[in-house]
Amino acid sequence: MAEHPPRWREDFPIAWERDQYLTRRELAKFLTLGSGLFAAATLVIAAAGRRFRVPVYPRVRIARVAELPVRGVLPFRYPTAEDPCLLLRRPDGTLVAYSQVCTHLSCAVVYEPADNVLFCPCHHGSFSTAGGEPVAGPPRRPLPRIRIEQDGEDIFATGVEV
Ligand code: FES
Repeated sequence: MAEHPPRWREDFPIAWERDQYLTRRELAKFLTLGSGLFAAATLVIAAAGRRFRVPVYPRVRIARVAELPVRGVLPFRYPTAEDPCLLLRRPDGTLVAYSQVCTHLSCAVVYEPADNVLFCPCHHGSFSTAGGEPVAGPPRRPLPRIRIEQDGEDIFATGVEV
């Protein structure tokens, strides 16, 4: 009695003579190279994304010039309502603005006009009002500076320099 080939062979015929075209080693090589290329492309795209990502900040009116006497300070929020900042007029008359969030552990800094520093009461850190650099205490990074522009009698916040 002649045996019939199983039914699945008719539905899924295997061409044994062509089955040797792709060896396991070639498949492993292909998968390794493909994965490597994919990882390299991902890294290139990630690096390009970081390099060319330019944050866009709104231009927001934050105060009038007359509101700030020498050694005066005005709180505002920028670039979002969750970001407290301070605008102050230094003893030499220049206007500067900084994030109010201490770069040590995020307490709120306050302006100390007598010492002309931004002081953090949590761990007694201090920042220069000239550039935001830490001058005392545990903070090691400067306060983010808020770019400001004077337009007539108005002062606008236009960006953040980290
Ligand atoms: S949180 Fe400001 S000095 Fe520690």
